[in-house]
Amino acid sequence: MRQGIGLQNKRVIILGGSSGIGLAVAEQATSQGANVVIVSSNPERIQKAIESVGGEVEGQTVDLSDERAVAALFTKLGPFDHLIFTAGDNLHLHELAATDLMQARRAFELRYWSALAAVKYGSPHIRKGGSIVLTTGVAGRRPHKGWVVAASVCGTIEALTRALAVELAPIRVNAVSPGVVRTNLWQNMGAAERENLYESVGKSLPVGRVGEAYDIAQAYLFLMQEGFSTGQTVVVDGGTVLV
Ligand SMILES: NC(=O)c1ccc[n+]([C@@H]2O[C@H](COP(=O)([O-])OP(=O)(O)OC[C@H]3O[C@@H](n4cnc5c(N)ncnc54)[C@H](OP(=O)(O)O)[C@@H]3O)[C@@H](O)[C@H]2O)c1
Repeated sequence: MRQGIGLQNKRVIILGGSSGIGLAVAEQATSQGANVVIVSSNPERIQKAIESVGGEVEGQTVDLSDERAVAALFTKLGPFDHLIFTAGDNLHLHELAATDLMQARRAFELRYWSALAAVKYGSPHIRKGGSIVLTTGVAGRRPHKGWVVAASVCGTIEALTRALAVELAPIRVNAVSPGVVRTNLWQNMGAAERENLYESVGKSLPVGRVGEAYDIAQAYLFLMQEGFSTGQTVVVDGGTVLV
């Protein structure tokens, strides 16, 4: 078998795998024969995720904002093939004039610093032919008013992906950039407001709808398996950058 092809018996670590996009990656990877480890901070959500995925899946409870805990996790896990980082917390979207700069700094905590820690401590354990897939967002390329900080985080992850691809070669490092996706990420909005957002954004897009987690997960499956892309960000946004 050529290097990088197929997920049968590959060990895939999904940081942020208990919900949304990460959970969909867990489902699709196990259905293709991978052994998956789901990592998130909430044991009940991990247990639910394990039950919904079925197949070869285990869970580890770790707060990824704790660098020592991230280091200990990878020592405990040992060798594996693919590292997926989909962890994300609630977004605080404000126009610049109303932005609290301390809160803005915290926006980088999980998405940037925890991703960097995961790569630092995880990459030495990646087997030959393995890869890393990070997560950004299309706001980095197509920002709207109020997205100054969130768009900055996204752009930072794209730059990080390119830099890591050079530094960690031959490990391949790529990222996925979703548009609006129907997941728990939007749960801090009221239900009606959230449905309005999905409907209005969906209508504005060339594909006529917002994304579902399984749409986005397919890009991670592709990047783990194809073996020849590195330093790339794959945009899966329903055409957001076009409108
Ligand atoms: N949904 C969208 O519209 C969209 C659009 C563009 C980009 N993205 C990006 O895609 C990524 C995944 O988002 P999603 O939509 O799948 O969100 P989600 O359903 O809320 O999933 C987020 C995951 O991160 C985990 N997590 C949060 N804080 C953690 C911590 N401190 N330690 C460990 N795990 C933690 C959560 O599990 P626990 O709560 O159990 O810890 C959960 O598994 C995020 O980076 C998000 O910004 C999403």
